[in-house]
Amino acid sequence: MATVVEQNPLVEGLERLPVHPTTLVIFGATGDLAKRKLLPALYNLAHEGALPERFNLIGVSRSDMPDEDYRAIARESIEKYSRTKTDDKVLSALLEHVRYVSGTFDTLDPYDGLQRVADEFDEEAGIPFNRVYYLSTAPSFFPMIIDALGQRGLDEREDAEVRVVIEKPFGTTLEEALDLNRQVLHVFDERQVFRIDHYLGKETVQNVLAFRFANGMFEPLWNRNYIDHVQITASEDIGIGTRAGYYDESGALRDLVQNHMLQLLTLLCMEPPVDFSADEVRGEKVKVLHAIAPITPDTVSDIAVRAQYAGGVVGGEAAPGYLEEEGVPDDSNTETYAALRLHVDNWRWAGVPFYLRTGKRLARKVTEIAVTLKPVPHLAFGQDGSVGVKPNQLILTVQPNEGVSLSLGAKIPGTRMRIRPVNMEFLYGTAFLSQSPEAYERLIMDAMRGDATLFTRDDEVEGQWRICDPILEHWAETPGPLPTYRAGSQGPEEAERLLLPGTKWRAI
Ligand code: BG6
Repeated sequence: MATVVEQNPLVEGLERLPVHPTTLVIFGATGDLAKRKLLPALYNLAHEGALPERFNLIGVSRSDMPDEDYRAIARESIEKYSRTKTDDKVLSALLEHVRYVSGTFDTLDPYDGLQRVADEFDEEAGIPFNRVYYLSTAPSFFPMIIDALGQRGLDEREDAEVRVVIEKPFGTTLEEALDLNRQVLHVFDERQVFRIDHYLGKETVQNVLAFRFANGMFEPLWNRNYIDHVQITASEDIGIGTRAGYYDESGALRDLVQNHMLQLLTLLCMEPPVDFSADEVRGEKVKVLHAIAPITPDTVSDIAVRAQYAGGVVGGEAAPGYLEEEGVPDDSNTETYAALRLHVDNWRWAGVPFYLRTGKRLARKVTEIAVTLKPVPHLAFGQDGSVGVKPNQLILTVQPNEGVSLSLGAKIPGTRMRIRPVNMEFLYGTAFLSQSPEAYERLIMDAMRGDATLFTRDDEVEGQWRICDPILEHWAETPGPLPTYRAGSQGPEEAERLLLPGTKWRAI
């Protein structure tokens, strides 16, 4: 029997693991996500020789067009968005196995069409290909597509695996997530379901696990006895671009906190799993979600802050306020910034505040986890020498400048004992000279391999909504106007009130 290390992609490289012949079906094949992320990811996997030796792609979408036209769309998107320069031989070989099926998702056409094309692939090769359905459509189509796949018997196959990948957002409330889980699990088994959170595909997010569980050095400190507080930041300098339709319905809490930021929090706080199998890892993460102190309507204003960006300057250029963005209603109360103070009420973390903040149009793009340790118990230096003594900080930078940095107090050279913080740094870019794969490359491979470790389980997504729902309900009942912050700034002043005495937000 293979050992855990041999089976486990978190430990073992992807490339060496064989993948069963697969037909991948992308619903929403002409959409933005498919063009910008999924098709380029498939190309890069092909380029690295990581795709299964026999691989087919079926694009499904509304517009009617022949295979050739879809191949041209795929070629153009790959050439535009691939992280590596395209090699025509690899690209043409990939496109040879691409077919296209059109139809609206609430009619039978696309399902009949995809069944026919997928069967043709099987017959030509004389083997049953595994099938992976990737739902990259507007979320309102998810239940309909799942239901239709079930009704046509496309949810299982003899001698082959059938899996479904579901994009975010997985519901917009707890109730919707529960309903969607019910609908999905009525047709598929949980082991066939892969709910995407692209943050889990990021190398640096997975490195949180490596950092914690491959080093003996930090784990003894990883608890309430040594850690004073944690700040998790996911700030962006971009606005909402052309996504007003989606974003104005969603807002920052649903868009980034419910999924990506709570993922970072659970990876940071979870207990060591017995092994890195999907259920062990996700089981530990769910326990963290359960330990988060319940939020009630009367505590929301103490622990949560929301705000909206006003006009300002970002990167030297004038930027409009949220209400001036195209497609945003003049009276919108959608938050473009959200900050929370959460507590994980368990043995390890009781009393440690976890501050989360995210926003559009802030000073710069940065995603990081900053762990601040408690100050030293006694300063033996003279008055002057103690000036620069700061608690140690450990910064896990997810992006950009991916790496880990530890701040230490060091003596400033000279005749007096004066202290200043200095950094010990590990930078991905310099330590590993290869370029990291895109998150979607990793996740598509894992879904094809049937490894759900880096995907969100049903109880996990429900646990995330359980935390966000009371905040969203309270916000919906107390409409604006919302506090504002200048585009290009550090965020709203109101966020200061979340911090316990002695704590400051890190500069963005
Ligand atoms: C997406 C959000 O899930 O994540 C976007 O919908 C956001 O609003 C994006 O910009 C951020 O992802 P990344 O990988 O650029 O940090």
